[in-house]
Amino acid sequence: MRRPDSVRIDSSLDGIDWPQAKADLAADDFDNGRSPDALRQSFQQSQHVAFARDGDRVVGMARLLSDGVCNSYLLDVWTGSSYRRQGIASAMVRLLLEQVPGQHVGLQTDDGQRLYESLGFRPQPEFWSRVVGTWLDNDANR
Ligand SMILES: CC(C)(COP(=O)(O)OP(=O)(O)OC[C@H]1O[C@@H](n2cnc3c(N)ncnc32)[C@H](O)[C@@H]1OP(=O)(O)O)[C@@H](O)C(=O)NCCC(=O)NCCS
Repeated sequence: MRRPDSVRIDSSLDGIDWPQAKADLAADDFDNGRSPDALRQSFQQSQHVAFARDGDRVVGMARLLSDGVCNSYLLDVWTGSSYRRQGIASAMVRLLLEQVPGQHVGLQTDDGQRLYESLGFRPQPEFWSRVVGTWLDNDANR
């Protein structure tokens, strides 16, 4: 389905209601425990961000960490449940990818395989990870 005309996608952090965004993520069961302020910091401190807004309401978001040279990492890709399958996540991810020509973009996903496949990503086995200390136990979350 085509994206509704009322939904616009851009990279502006202006006017985002972070407590509302956190509540909307939690309502969609896509809340990893960050406080509204920590969520704001995650986006503000990312090199590239994308938001979908319907009026003033954020209905989608995504962010990309990048060294500006060769490596990027895609994170926090979310479309509000009542806005899905209208091309919103695809448009946000494409906007982010336009910012990093020539770079290798990685991501981890549990449920988004079809989305990423449709955007040209391919699985690369043997992703390894660990949490340093305890999850979210750091100054940004106090
Ligand atoms: C995954 C998610 C971001 C997709 O957002 P979206 O705006 O609905 O995605 P799009 O409309 O751009 O989908 C583009 C294509 O991806 C595929 N796709 C997306 N969601 C799909 C689903 N639930 N099942 C099967 N294919 C899916 C389809 O090929 C789709 O094209 P189509 O609708 O024409 O068939 C959204 O479902 C979401 O926020 N889920 C919860 C959070 C999450 O899992 N995020 C990914 C973390 S890495």
